[in-house]
Amino acid sequence: MAHPYHGLNELREMFLSYFESKGHLRLPSFSLIPPASDKSLLLINSGMAPMKTWFTREEEPPRNRVTTCQKCIRTGDIENIGHTDRHGTYFEMLGNFSFGDYFKKEAIPFCWEFLTEVVGLEADRLYPSIYLDDEEAFEIWNKDIGIPAEKIFRFGKEDNFWEHGAGPCGPCSEVYYDRGPEHGCGKPGCTVGCECDRYIEVWNNVFSQFVNDGENHYTEMTHKNIDTGMGLERLACVCQNVNSLFDVDTVMNITNKVSEITNAHYGESQKTDVSLRVITDHIRSGVMMICDGILPSNEGRGYVLRRLLRRAARHGKLLGVERPFLHEVVETVIHENECAYPDLREKQAYITKVVRTEEENFARTIDGGMKIYNDLLAAHKEKGETVFSGADAFKLYDTYGFPIDLTVEMVEEEGMTVDRDGFDQLMEEQRVRARKAREALGDLGWAGIEFGSDMPATEFVGYENDVTDGKVLAIVVEGELRDEIVAGAEATVVLDQTTLYAEMGGQVADHGTITCGSSVFRVKDVQKNKGGKFLHTGVLESGELKVGDSAEVSIDVDRRKAIRRAHSATHLLDAALKKVLGDHVHQAGSLVEPDRLRFDFTHFEAITPEQLAQIDKLVNDAILEGYPVVTEVLPIEEAKKKGAVAMFGEKYGDTVRVVEMGDFSMEFCGGTHLDNTAKAGPFRIKSESSIASGVRRIEATVGKLTLETVNRNQQMLFHAAQMLKTNPGELEAKIDQQLTEMKEMRHELEKFQAEASLGEARQFLTSAKDVKGLKVLTAIRNGMDAAALRQMGDFLRDKESGVVAVLASVNGEKITFLAICGPEAVKKGVKAGDLVKNVCAVCGGKGGGKPDSAMGGGTDLLKLDDALASVDDFVSEKLG
Ligand code: ALA
Repeated sequence: MAHPYHGLNELREMFLSYFESKGHLRLPSFSLIPPASDKSLLLINSGMAPMKTWFTREEEPPRNRVTTCQKCIRTGDIENIGHTDRHGTYFEMLGNFSFGDYFKKEAIPFCWEFLTEVVGLEADRLYPSIYLDDEEAFEIWNKDIGIPAEKIFRFGKEDNFWEHGAGPCGPCSEVYYDRGPEHGCGKPGCTVGCECDRYIEVWNNVFSQFVNDGENHYTEMTHKNIDTGMGLERLACVCQNVNSLFDVDTVMNITNKVSEITNAHYGESQKTDVSLRVITDHIRSGVMMICDGILPSNEGRGYVLRRLLRRAARHGKLLGVERPFLHEVVETVIHENECAYPDLREKQAYITKVVRTEEENFARTIDGGMKIYNDLLAAHKEKGETVFSGADAFKLYDTYGFPIDLTVEMVEEEGMTVDRDGFDQLMEEQRVRARKAREALGDLGWAGIEFGSDMPATEFVGYENDVTDGKVLAIVVEGELRDEIVAGAEATVVLDQTTLYAEMGGQVADHGTITCGSSVFRVKDVQKNKGGKFLHTGVLESGELKVGDSAEVSIDVDRRKAIRRAHSATHLLDAALKKVLGDHVHQAGSLVEPDRLRFDFTHFEAITPEQLAQIDKLVNDAILEGYPVVTEVLPIEEAKKKGAVAMFGEKYGDTVRVVEMGDFSMEFCGGTHLDNTAKAGPFRIKSESSIASGVRRIEATVGKLTLETVNRNQQMLFHAAQMLKTNPGELEAKIDQQLTEMKEMRHELEKFQAEASLGEARQFLTSAKDVKGLKVLTAIRNGMDAAALRQMGDFLRDKESGVVAVLASVNGEKITFLAICGPEAVKKGVKAGDLVKNVCAVCGGKGGGKPDSAMGGGTDLLKLDDALASVDDFVSEKLG
């Protein structure tokens, strides 16, 4: 090797400490979930992505020089992962950033010094590239660093202008490493820029000068910035002298674990290698994503995660593993990465559980859908088609949960293709339907009105005050800016200052008024937009309101108090859940309304009634304890050190607001709270349910709403007691007594009915006809069920040995017959079974049974009399 060996974890540390020594602030990797304000990205895909607002100066960076190693996910070509050497969905990007501080003259020498002096790569093997006419960069490489002109390559926009959708961008200068002729294609003209494996790009210095608005309109930024990126795994490939990302030390250890489980080994066959790589790459990504709070789902980031885990699970199946196994690899992924990402270890149990649950769900899906897939495939083949229809692929996705790439892979293994356009169109139609549904539900998210950047953000002074003076900065009616509105207008008003809380972090917006003299604008909703302006939406009830007016903003105080009660109780509930269920409980969503709250959290089993009672009690005890509620704004590190609970996957600034309730609860939170937990009033859980795999929901009330329910229940109790002529304290005993009485009465009634019908039976006997010594009788007793008929029949048989009786009962359209023959009648050859068969036949039915007792049915009501009349003849015939 032409340079020293370095492990991946070692390289990360070398990079970060080198740039620290050059005055950079070292920050931990940001979450893989982009900041809420960045709608252009699903997942963080480069070092600079979480810092866009620092480049544009929409927000102030913590220092003008920053260095990070950023977790990144790129999923543009998931289908190709496993088939190539250096592509993975997950990678780490090393970066040094200058926000209006140093520029090319420092950035290039930093890069050179790190690669040659710190890492120890041979200078001769390094080739810079620059953007076409970037003479400044050329001079620096050539004069300051001393690279001969013929070793500096000039490329166009395609290669040497870096941008990724909307955001900061600019020309760039890359550095290529020559791995030696043995890695080359050997073709004439093979040099830097060739597609082969010889020259690989290790470092990218972006001279970040412009902002792309997402539609390729570029504006020059006032500050010039540096954004650099170096793939950590790529650098490790060079430093470890290996061809592939999968041969890098930490990654190889994961593959080895996969081999151990699957008993498949690297190098056995091309197919095995692909599967091993897919599993290794996807489980790495999956673990990192779950750790940052992403859960498998059918939308957005959750869908990316689902695809990755399911594709990995399927490749496990291809390697012959029939049981869920991916969760067994989690430990190794954590082990290889925990030195840089210690939270992996903290969340190990949770991550393992999420992976395992998804694997199990997928196994069920596959089992259920595989037959359908095979049927659909067979149908296509039968018709001689080579394209699997979009509609079928969509059906598999929508009904059976097959990720589209799974269908594509399986279909391709059959030498066929999938109609992707057809599928995409159906997906789009579904998205439109889903969006319409969301809109109908009023889920508008951020209000999208743009006011330009010169208008300041609204200052929120509503933590301490109910009322404030504010100046009207803008009025919007139906999406258009207005100077003035008059009574009756529905509008959105922006002020420089407000006490009304905008809907945020699950807490609903305040209601209130904006008054100006006798003009009253009633606010029904408040949203905060991207630029930090509070959009007060409502109706001007009287007078007029103009831009520039000085107004007074007041909160609907009673409503706010009720919201405070619910919000503080939500924190108590969160803490109680962790205490009773365990530390794997993380908030997955919440809704805080006046005196009512809904809390979604991660937990994998139903909560038992005992646990629920315990949680309820803990919260009420914490309320009664009267803990003072203290809010402070702290530097984020200090807040974490104190042990405050952060929202999973949320990006926070340098300072955070921490809400503390005695030693019971401490959370990051921007919401409005009580000053003492006792003011929450009685807490009552209304429901507990599952809302998604691994996510449960508790709904509860506090304060006046709980009291209302308690009062309502109390009234109901009084009313019920009144109806039973007793008092609430004795209600239970009274109900018990009444139920017993009722049971006894029912019993008495049955006895009475039985006696009455036996009396009747006795009467039937006296009216029986003598046919050759036997006592023949027939009777119709409507409304009797089979059991009652039988009881009557048994009585007749026991009472009179020579009895031959047919009893009929009509219930609606149906006739039930019972035939009875006493011992003497049977001895003489008259059998109930034959008799009932005969009778039933007359009414179009069937019957049968034993010689002494038999039952049957019929439907022809008009023939009932004939049927009964046939009994005499039957008996005479039998007796000859
Ligand atoms: N942002 C640049 C990249 O991702 C450095 O390559």
